[in-house]
Amino acid sequence: MKKLVTAALLAITIQADAQTPTWSDDVACIVFSHCATCHHDGGPGHFNLMSYADAYWWRNEMRDATQARFMPPWPPDPGYRSMAHERVLTQDEIDIIAAWVDGGAPEGNSSNAPAPPVFETEWEIPAPDVSAIMPDYVIPSSTADNYRCFVLPINNPSDRYITGLEVVPGNTEMVHHVLVFQDATGGAAALDAQDIEPGYESFGGIGVDDAKLIGVWAPGASAYFTPPGMGIKLLANADIVIQVHYPASSTSELDSTRINLRLAPPGFQRELALDPILDHVVNITDGPLIIAPNVVDTFHAEYTTPIPATITAVAPHSHLLGKRMRAWAVKPGGEVVPIVDILRWDFRWQGLYSFRHPIFLPQGTTLYCETIYDNTEDNPFNPNSPPEYVWLGEATTNEMMLYYFMWTYGLQGDEEIVVDDSPHMAHHLDCEVDFTIGVDEGTVAPRMSVAPNPARDRFLVTLSGERAWLRLIDAQGRATMVRYTAGTRIDLDASSLARGVYTLEALYPGGALERARIVLE
Ligand code: HEC
Repeated sequence: MKKLVTAALLAITIQADAQTPTWSDDVACIVFSHCATCHHDGGPGHFNLMSYADAYWWRNEMRDATQARFMPPWPPDPGYRSMAHERVLTQDEIDIIAAWVDGGAPEGNSSNAPAPPVFETEWEIPAPDVSAIMPDYVIPSSTADNYRCFVLPINNPSDRYITGLEVVPGNTEMVHHVLVFQDATGGAAALDAQDIEPGYESFGGIGVDDAKLIGVWAPGASAYFTPPGMGIKLLANADIVIQVHYPASSTSELDSTRINLRLAPPGFQRELALDPILDHVVNITDGPLIIAPNVVDTFHAEYTTPIPATITAVAPHSHLLGKRMRAWAVKPGGEVVPIVDILRWDFRWQGLYSFRHPIFLPQGTTLYCETIYDNTEDNPFNPNSPPEYVWLGEATTNEMMLYYFMWTYGLQGDEEIVVDDSPHMAHHLDCEVDFTIGVDEGTVAPRMSVAPNPARDRFLVTLSGERAWLRLIDAQGRATMVRYTAGTRIDLDASSLARGVYTLEALYPGGALERARIVLE
């Protein structure tokens, strides 16, 4: 008898009530848009999130990983600077996943779910001007990381400008990151010739002094496109050299990674360069970079621009002791410009992060960085146990402090150039999440204001940011109006809407969300 009662109670508590989001109506859209890109067969994510059954199996881990903002992986803090094409969930999306899991992870009506995405091996640069692939390489099984450089001759007879660069990993499970260089000296080809296997081993750089870094790739990274009118100079007769990081693996595997380039038509482009403008030798202010055992130590560098400069992207780089990497600029008038803040540096997730608009730095602007290293036992990536002295060098067990900037000569007005203006990553098949967390609680954001309130035909919304998606949600949780705004004030026509209580949501680039309650009478 007692057993029966418990069973009945259990049935009641796990039954989805009206307030629980469902897979089909709410969660599938989030997962297909933000997770399946990596979590599918052959993707870098190790397990699939392509169906209700997959997600149900992983539900608790999904809740925890999204609440901790560990997934989707996106190292730069969007609150410090919101980047182009950033991979972040809104707080609402995180809350919906949690509410779904905590409510028993119901499927709901499966016919409402969007069709799962199809991942063809389609290139992001569909008809590249240059497509070069490295020879098939058998990655030996090894207990150590393997950093291998491959030379891709591209037979380019004259100087050209690269406007798009795509890395297509041959083996998505094994290619952990790729640095792309150009080498016009022939040095890399000579090193390659000395090694009988395809490629040659080299950590840090590619072992050729004059080779120039032109791109970086990490799992999930998209192709890199330069802002309109700008290009990376590809020197005549240069080789493309890729350094591929294969993590330790118990099986031997095959890889053949490809590079696709889009070139500008012959003619003038503003030349972009990718340089380590803040670094651990030339402009470190508290060097040398030596980190004592059992300490958390901080290092800085600074550089004042001798000319007006425009930066379009940033790529911070350190090794296994790196804990936090932050860069900012101070303009001659004292204005502070946040650039990037990686709160939890993770050697495995590196990227070249593009700004939504290029950032113009007048002559005399100082760029600063602060890098925190954790050389204690608490750092799970510490290569030494017990910790040892670690200093500047090329090996994984050495350290580095580099902030690469994609930059060009700066012109007034560069900040008007649009790289990415959308507040949130486009959803799979434009699916929408029906569920809104917290509508019933009437959480009123302090900074967004609506007047008059109550309103009749029109009301004026004053926002705390320049661009936002606005959604007006009725008492049933349906979005009755969706608008994209530029500017901080918008006048909305509510004359055709049913009278009642609504929640107005403003979603800003970077995922910040504000809400206000409004009554139409
Ligand atoms: C850019 C690719 C990428 C995206 C996008 C991504 N993941 Fe992952 N995910 C990974 C990789 C790679 C791992 C393995 C991490 C590791 O080995 O450290 C992982 C691991 C995980 C894990 C296991 C974490 C653990 O505790 O070990 C979970 C759960 C997860 N992802 C959920 C998600 C969810 C949910 C989303 C979408 C909201 C998502 N991921 C989006 C690449 C991705």
